[in-house]
Amino acid sequence: MEWGRSSLAVGSPVSEPGNLYRPPAPTPIGAVPALLRSIFTLDRDLLKLIPDTAYHTKVERFGLSRRGIVLIADPALVRQVMVDEVDAFPKNDLMVNALAPLINDGLFVSSHEVWRRQRNLVEPAFSHIRVQTAFEKMQQAVDTCEDRLTANVRRGEPFNLDRMLAQLTADIVFRTIFSKSLEDNKAAQFFDAWATFQRSVSEIRLSQLILRRAWDTPPQSTAVATSAAVIRQHIDQMVAERTSGTATGFNDICEDILTAKDPDSGDRFGLDEAADQIAVFFIAGHETTASVLTWCFFILSQQPDHVAELRREIEDLKQDGAVTFETVKRLSKTRNAFLEALRLYPPLGFIPRVSLNDTELGGLRIQRGTMVIVSPYILHRHHALWRNPDRFDPTRFERDTENRFTSGAFIPFGLGPRVCVGSSFAMMEATLILARLIDRFEFTSVAPDRVQPVCQLSIRPAEDIQMAASIRTKDLTGTP
Ligand code: HEM
Repeated sequence: MEWGRSSLAVGSPVSEPGNLYRPPAPTPIGAVPALLRSIFTLDRDLLKLIPDTAYHTKVERFGLSRRGIVLIADPALVRQVMVDEVDAFPKNDLMVNALAPLINDGLFVSSHEVWRRQRNLVEPAFSHIRVQTAFEKMQQAVDTCEDRLTANVRRGEPFNLDRMLAQLTADIVFRTIFSKSLEDNKAAQFFDAWATFQRSVSEIRLSQLILRRAWDTPPQSTAVATSAAVIRQHIDQMVAERTSGTATGFNDICEDILTAKDPDSGDRFGLDEAADQIAVFFIAGHETTASVLTWCFFILSQQPDHVAELRREIEDLKQDGAVTFETVKRLSKTRNAFLEALRLYPPLGFIPRVSLNDTELGGLRIQRGTMVIVSPYILHRHHALWRNPDRFDPTRFERDTENRFTSGAFIPFGLGPRVCVGSSFAMMEATLILARLIDRFEFTSVAPDRVQPVCQLSIRPAEDIQMAASIRTKDLTGTP
């Protein structure tokens, strides 16, 4: 390995593993045991299949397969695939096929000219995910969530953390897309279908990965098709309500996408295509933020001293007792806690591409059709890039150490022309949600020892995390 630990390592100089919390993650094992485990057990979670060598090398062939699978965890190689040769490594056929029932050939999965056209037409809609514009909607959704949680506390019931946060982030993005809140009854149907979709679409059928050729995509299971149809029906219905309604003057993502027009050619989206892009915003815009927040709340429930530190920061920066836009911009410790959760559990832990040509990556010969997986999960836990990589240490994101990041070592939002368009939006909403909920509630995890991550589209808890909440004493007495 030529990587210099001194030039790349990030982390607090006083951070020693003994003092730092290690959040749940599978302990990597050798390549052969990992393969045997995947063959002889039903547990085919990608996180458990990664051999320990992957956390030390730049590029790794993954198992034996007809098409070839390569894992990339090196800043320079990530740049090659996602920036310098982006057209030679388009979105992977298996991922495109998996998401097609939800978004067809929409923005997130399209490539080349199709993507460039969509991106051009969708551009005006990005004004609605500017943080200043969206902040009020975020506050309103957090108000609703607080009321719901307070009712839960009064009933003395634990709640499903993942579901609570998914409903909150979905409500935020729903208000940004459609200018209205996500009704509770629709949310329940939506999340049940979404949970089924995520679980069934990501079942790794090892034989298919090993035996199939590139672009020979497998048929989807009935569970995938049925759950996707339920999700799409909700989104299509919202779009239909807008196009058939008499109300006008909307100022939101839905309106901008429906009325998008290329000024030179006059090109516009057809109705179905417009609905595909709206579905992309809804799906990409809620699950990702919710899953990192789930990890962040869980970790903080295990780290009371850290929570106390965040509460002091929040208390100091509130304005007239409220968490305002200005407060959120200055909450650096809260933001760093979220960034550290994002490092350990990047929702898109594996970003798959396909090689269009016979080529070479980091000294490995790559055949056309090889699945090239850029892995933020491995990169963010790489032993040559991070000190104490498996430990929770938000100080690594403090301003003076942040500058030492090597470009490409921290890529939760991707890189290059396909980088996430909602990163500032996600950072703002996550910091706001953490600040408001931590300030008001005390959270206790019901069964922390059962919590383990799994890779199902996003990196999420294998079992729902049950939390108990209570209202903080200061809220009951009215004193800080
Ligand atoms: C913590 C939260 C989020 C994470 C970690 C995340 C991560 C990512 C990543 C890694 C990509 C690139 C995927 C690739 O290269 O194949 C992406 C693309 C995208 N994201 Fe996000 N995202 C987040 C939140 C959001 C939000 C809040 C929105 C919208 C409101 C959003 C909208 C999109 C869209 C539209 C794309 C496709 C861009 C394109 O291909 O042109 N994301 N996201």
